[in-house]
Amino acid sequence: MEFKVAAILCLALVSATQAVKVSVYYESLCPDSIAFIRDQYHSTYQQLGSSSITVDFLPYGKASHTQDGSGNWVFDCQHGPEECRGNKVQACGLKYITNPDLQEAYVHCVMTSSYPPDAGQSCATSVGGVSDYSAISSCISSAEGDNALVAYGDRTHALGSILSFVPTIIYDDVFNQSEQNESLYNFLGVVCRHLSSPKPSACP
Ligand SMILES: *[C@@H]1O[C@H](CO)[C@@H](O)[C@H](O)[C@H]1NC(C)=O
Ligand SMILES: *[C@@H]1O[C@H](CO)[C@@H](O)[C@H](O)[C@H]1NC(C)=O
Repeated sequence: MEFKVAAILCLALVSATQAVKVSVYYESLCPDSIAFIRDQYHSTYQQLGSSSITVDFLPYGKASHTQDGSGNWVFDCQHGPEECRGNKVQACGLKYITNPDLQEAYVHCVMTSSYPPDAGQSCATSVGGVSDYSAISSCISSAEGDNALVAYGDRTHALGSILSFVPTIIYDDVFNQSEQNESLYNFLGVVCRHLSSPKPSACP
C-alpha cells in the first residue's frame, strides 16, 4: 500500500517536471542571437511546444544600466541605443503577451524582422495575444519599459562571468558550457536530453 502511494507520487512528479526551462539571454541587434532564434529555437519549439519547453526570454544581453540624477534609468547596449530600444520592444511585448506560445511567436517575429526596434507593432498584430498595441507602445516609451528592461538586466547581471557569449542558453537554471556550445547547432538534441522518457517523437 505504501509502495503504491509512493509510486503514484513519483509518477505525478515526473509528469509535472517534464518541461525543461530554457532561459535565453539575448539582444535585439546581435547576429548570433538572431541566428539562434531563427535557425534553432523556433523550429525546436514548433516541434516540441510548451509541454516540453518552458519559455524564458531575457532581451538584455551585454548591456548596463545606471540611474541619472533624476532617478531615470539610462541604458548602454552592446550595439548602441537602437538595440536597447529593440530589447525594450521585446521586454514590453513579453509583459503584455503572456501566453508562452505567443511569446515565442512574438520574439521570433521581432528577431527575424528586417529591423527589430521597429517590429513591435506589426509583430504584436500578426501574433495576436493583445487586444491592442497601445499598452505595449506606452510601456516602450515610459518608465514602465525601463523597469521591465531593468528586471531582465538584473537577472542577466546575476550570471556574472557566465555571460561571455550572447546568446547564452541555460537549462533549468544550471549553466553548462558544452551544452551552451552545442545549443547553437543542435538545440533540439540538447533540449531532448533534458526531457525524461517517454520523449516526444520529434526527439532524435
Ligand atoms: C554538461 O552537459 C553534458 C552534455 O549534456 C553532460 O555530459 C555533462 O555531464 C554536463 N556537465 C555537468 C557538469 O553537468
Ligand atoms: C565551447 O566553445 C568555445 C568557443 O568555440 C571553446 O573555446 C570551448 O573550448 C568550448 N567548450 C566546451 C566545453 O565545449
